[in-house]
Amino acid sequence: MKIAFFDSGIGGLSVLHHALKILPNEDFIFFADEDNVPYGTKTREQVLGYVEEAFKFLIAQDVGAIVVACNTATSAAVRAMRQKYSLPIVGMEPAIKRALDLFPNKKFLVTATEITIKGEKLFALIDRLNAQNFAELKSLSPLVEFAERMEFNSAAVENYLRGEFAPYDFKNFSSVVLGCTHFNYFKDTMKKILPPHIKFLDGNAGTLNYLIKLANLKIDTESKKIPHVEYFYSGRRVTSEKELARLEKYLRRLDDMYLI
Ligand code: DGL
Repeated sequence: MKIAFFDSGIGGLSVLHHALKILPNEDFIFFADEDNVPYGTKTREQVLGYVEEAFKFLIAQDVGAIVVACNTATSAAVRAMRQKYSLPIVGMEPAIKRALDLFPNKKFLVTATEITIKGEKLFALIDRLNAQNFAELKSLSPLVEFAERMEFNSAAVENYLRGEFAPYDFKNFSSVVLGCTHFNYFKDTMKKILPPHIKFLDGNAGTLNYLIKLANLKIDTESKKIPHVEYFYSGRRVTSEKELARLEKYLRRLDDMYLI
């Protein structure tokens, strides 16, 4: 099946990276809305408009399922897309359930973009899981632009993160939930700043498990097949060596981040 992964930018590659490991027999389209990134600091209406355009394009590519590999777009637009289209649409949610399951009764820091942090969807999730006393929320929107510039561990990134993390007493926290797919690129820098017991939790495996169930796919971790991926920036096929090398660099960084 041809499966589309959609994000505002290169964050969604972290979900695709995981999919390539466990679903080698599928074909993939990766759509990064590079003309409109970042989404997290725009209005919900603007993001809904961008997602509508991206979906029109992806549906025309005859895909069998769409993974919205973006917490922000999920928060602002996934419900509307499900009302409009009948193919399987899988969204992303901050891994709050995982934090509660792995570390019961411990606090954790949910990091995401401004839209996700302020969105009703996150509050509904926290309510549903009874996580009010454990989930602290922190917007780290500027990380999206650092990631797009391929700036992961500069002094500017480190200073920014030190400042944002400074108010929390991490002794009492179990983990940091990476509620934005762009944040996976910063695990090493975060690790350098935070105490060693802090774990990083993302929603990638959960999202893919849901995709596998909904689209009736089979996990295959034995095959040596390298799946076919077509890359698009806002509807334009990426063919230049330079841009393909850029995407490859992100994927190789994700190899390292995967181990943290
Ligand atoms: N990668 C997106 C997410 O997971 C957001 C990035 C953005 O702000 O554009 O939330």
